[in-house]
Parts: sequence; C-alpha cells; structure tokens
Amino acid sequence: MKTIVLDEPGRFSLTDTAAPNTAPDGHALVKVHRVGICGTDLHAFRGKQPFFTYPRILGHELGVEVVEIGANDLGIKPGDSCAVEPYLNCGACIACRRGRTNCCVKMQVLGVHTDGGMRETIAVPVSKLHKSVTMSQEQLALVETLSIGCHAVARAGMDSDETVLVIGAGPIGLTVVQFALLEGVRVLVMDVNEQRLAFCRKAFGVETLRADQEPLERLKELTNGDLPTTVFDATGNPKSMEQAIYYVAHGGRLVFVGFVQDNLTFRDQDVHAREMTVLRTRNATSADFRRVMSLIESGEIDTSSWVTHRASVESMIAEFPTWLDPASGTIKAVVAFAD
Ligand SMILES: NC(=O)c1ccc[n+]([C@@H]2O[C@H](COP(=O)([O-])OP(=O)(O)OC[C@H]3O[C@@H](n4cnc5c(N)ncnc54)[C@H](O)[C@@H]3O)[C@@H](O)[C@H]2O)c1
Ligand SMILES: [Zn+2]
Ligand SMILES: [Zn+2]
Repeated sequence: MKTIVLDEPGRFSLTDTAAPNTAPDGHALVKVHRVGICGTDLHAFRGKQPFFTYPRILGHELGVEVVEIGANDLGIKPGDSCAVEPYLNCGACIACRRGRTNCCVKMQVLGVHTDGGMRETIAVPVSKLHKSVTMSQEQLALVETLSIGCHAVARAGMDSDETVLVIGAGPIGLTVVQFALLEGVRVLVMDVNEQRLAFCRKAFGVETLRADQEPLERLKELTNGDLPTTVFDATGNPKSMEQAIYYVAHGGRLVFVGFVQDNLTFRDQDVHAREMTVLRTRNATSADFRRVMSLIESGEIDTSSWVTHRASVESMIAEFPTWLDPASGTIKAVVAFAD
C-alpha cells in the first residue's frame, strides 16, 4: 500500500509497505481517506520537534472508512465514516483513572509518537473511532484540530459577558476563536501577521489588533480600560506567553494553549495582584470530539473556510515545503489518500 514516510527532517518518501490484513484485539482496520496537516507535522519536517524520532509515518488528523471491525457497542460497522481520536492513552494512570485521558502519563499520539495515518490502511483502537453519518471525509479530518479549541475554551469556563483576547491567529488560535464565539463572548484577536488577522476578520467577523503596535494601549482602548477577562495564548512564542499576563484584567484568567521548550519567567507580583488563574491545555478528550462533530453536523460550525490547500498522495511531497511559507496563506492543508 502507498505510504508516505518522513525519513529524516526535510525528506519524505513515497513507498510501498505491506498492508495489515487483520487488526489486533480491540482494534479496527480502517481505510484512510483524508489526512490534515498541522503545525506538529510542519515542525517534524523542519526537525524542530525535540521528542521526535525518524523515520516516522505522520498523520494524526484523520478521516477514515471502516474496513474490518469486531462486535462493538458503538454501533460502528464496515463502511462507516469516522474521525480518529489520535490520543492513545494507557487507561490505567492517575490522569486516565480520573477521566483526564488527554494528559495521560504515557500519552502516545498517533502520527507523532507512533506511526500515523499517511498510508492507505491502518489499525486503530475501536474506542478511538467517532462515527458520523453526514460529515464528509474532509470534515472528519478537521475534527482533531477543532477539538483543541473546544477543549481549551471549555477549560476556561468563561461567562458570556466577557471580552476575550486570543493571541496567535494560526490554526490552533483560530479553533479557540471559533469556540469562544460559540460561548457568546466578545472576541479580540492579536497577531503580528496582518494576513492572518485579515483572514480572522473575514472568516469570523472579529476585531483584531497587532501585537507589534502598542497592544496594551490598544487593549485598554477596546475594553474601556478594563482589559480582557480571559486571555488565550496560542502563539508558541515564549516572549508572547510572558507578555500575556499584562493583558489580563484583575480577577481574570490566562490560558496557555501553545507550548514551548523554554523556561517562562514572570514577576510573581504581577500575577498575584490580579489573583490570576493560569491554565494549561493539552490535546482533547472523546467528549470534545463528540461535541465538535455534533456542531459540524448541525451546521453551527461552518468548516468551509478552514481548508485552504489540498493535495494528493502523489503531489504532497512536492507541495509540503510550500505550506511552511507564511506567504502561502496556509491555514489547513489536507491530503487525499482515497476518493
Ligand atoms: N494545546 C494543545 O494540545 C496543542 C495542540 C496543537 C498545537 N498546540 C500549540 O499551539 C501553538 C500554535 O499552533 P499553530 O499550529 O496555530 O501555530 P502557528 O505557528 O501556525 O501560529 C502561531 C501564530 O502566532 C503568531 N505569533 C507568533 N509570535 C507572536 C507574538 N509575539 N504575538 C502575537 N502573535 C504571534 C504567528 O504569527 C502565527 O499566526 C503551538 O505552540 C503549538 O505547539 C497546542
Ligand atoms: Zn494536529
Ligand atoms: Zn494514562
């Protein structure tokens, strides 16, 4: 079967690998239709993902069709279309026992820590399949990305009368914007990239500001001097994360969605004075997946503007490096493995 392998940073190859003919216990065999590409894949390609090992088959944002599945209580049968929750958790650790499967002590993300879905057929745990009757394969491949924003916004626990700032209008920040809007809050989006801010205004109708143009003054103007009561940082930029505390209103909360390998330094007094709640988010849960899917199915989330680039298995290797260039305007690229 056709398989794309990331042999080493900067080098993919399209190879022929043996297709699995049976799935291990508790697993289903699925045919991969669509694979979404995200920042993690781009970092792996650049060689900037520290825990990454090569060679690796990428692909953790998957739209699949079930080929072979045993009796299950999810009502999933061959031919069904599913999204795959790629967070393979152990089920036994302290986090898993408390339902916090998204931050399992032994977390293995499909396509990150283990080989993923850039191949025609793959075996996945039945419990990680989420079926939809109405969603397209492309929409199914968007569920994982959207679930990050769903989880982050749910974790914040905002009131609907809040003014919220989302810093970083990359794909992850945009998923936060999407779910914040569903909470009915006022959303401000800040970035240094004008093209991304323009996309935000067009796709979501939100107010935007530039991080490199006196943002604190601008935020005060926009909030009657109060500042936003919830701030999300989805930049993956340590300087932005350190600066973000100054954009939070007294009594407010700061949610770090992006993450970095660096140390972050704060002056404690600045956090203390605000009695700031600081939250981290990691991945998403099955409940987040189901919520994202029901919102897409009901039309409350319109996925039409999310996919900006499409490729076939054959064209992906040549096109992938172009998606790294901010000038390409890539929000989400999707690769078609089957029709
Ligand atoms: N919580 C999770 O489980 C989870 C999951 C996936 C990704 N992430 C993380 O989320 C972060 C964002 O991912 P992405 O794919 O959207 O990344 P991205 O690089 O595409 O987007 C980041 C955005 O932040 C902007 N930015 C950078 N520095 C800035 C600054 N100083 N001020 C304002 N804006 C700035 C960039 O212009 C860009 O638009 C990354 O750190 C990624 O690792 C977290
Ligand atoms: Zn992803
Ligand atoms: Zn666990």
